[in-house]
Amino acid sequence: MQPNSFELPISHALHGGYKHPACRNWVKQTLSANNLVYPVFVLDEPDAEQEIKTMPGIKRFGYKKIVDHLKPLVKKGLQSIIIFGILSDDNKKDERGSHAGGNGIKGPTNLALEEIKKEIPELLLIVDVCLCAFTSHGHCGLLNCEGYIDNAASLKRLVEVSISYVQSGAQVIAPSDMMDGRIGAIKQELIRQNLEIPVMSYAAKFASSYYGPFRDACKSAPGKSDRQAYQLPLDSTQLALKAVQRDLEEGADYIMVKPITTYLDIVKEIKQRFNPIMACYHVSGEYAMVCFAAQNGACDKKKVVLETMRSFRRAGIDIIITYFTPELLDWVKEEF
Ligand code: PBG
Ligand code: ZN
Repeated sequence: MQPNSFELPISHALHGGYKHPACRNWVKQTLSANNLVYPVFVLDEPDAEQEIKTMPGIKRFGYKKIVDHLKPLVKKGLQSIIIFGILSDDNKKDERGSHAGGNGIKGPTNLALEEIKKEIPELLLIVDVCLCAFTSHGHCGLLNCEGYIDNAASLKRLVEVSISYVQSGAQVIAPSDMMDGRIGAIKQELIRQNLEIPVMSYAAKFASSYYGPFRDACKSAPGKSDRQAYQLPLDSTQLALKAVQRDLEEGADYIMVKPITTYLDIVKEIKQRFNPIMACYHVSGEYAMVCFAAQNGACDKKKVVLETMRSFRRAGIDIIITYFTPELLDWVKEEF
């Protein structure tokens, strides 16, 4: 042997095994419109259309206008959306988040559900259930007089909101408030009312810094303090697994990890331990970073987004919630 040459052991010659595109296709994780959920922001006025400066290409739509936006996407294969309601008028915010809906009030989510149900009945309608876009203090639950979360009162209110969404046509309930016992409370009331509605739990939801653009979009940043008392600490796999186990015991049908790119290790742990049907939320900050990098020539948006999506599929995620859905509906047809 020459001093600088290395004799390749037979078992180490790998290139031949994936030189041909057909061989690469054998090992490709499929990605199709079936895996995608599109998050939409809807306002309680009919015809609005507002850009969101930190989320290029994403808009807040009026509850009627949203139908025109969705129809062409459904033609391209869109099968489900998750709806986030936003108030046009900040003066409607109060301590209880009354204008989220329920108790005789129709919030933006109720209005959009009724409109979309009527116009696009085949689309699966998931709703985010939370109070932060509707409360004057901007927290996801209700506060007691000392300014701390009142868990029991929050649960009562979240159940009320959830049931009102189901009455307006919601087909999956996804509570993102993170109050203790919310899955059990909502599920129990659904079953009591004979409603066969699944619950998607934001079980492994971390107190992340990637939610900034979303809070602009929904005007939902907390007024005082942050959400570390009810969203998970960034460092703990143990607490994430405990939250998942708890939510599964309370009857969660689907388990979500959020954000996702920096938490793929958590997905693996959850799969190994419990193997539930898994969803992930590719959140606003993850979306914005790719958009702004691509706008400035730092990456090829389509290639980077597809690479990112494939990492989610490789990790075993079935349901991908992403703002890239409209573009992906075209890209998956070209690439898979
Ligand atoms: C909270 C909620 C958040 C997101 C969805 N629901 C985060 C938060 O404000 O704490 C984030 C989604 C995103 O960033 O795209 N109700
Ligand atoms: Zn919230």
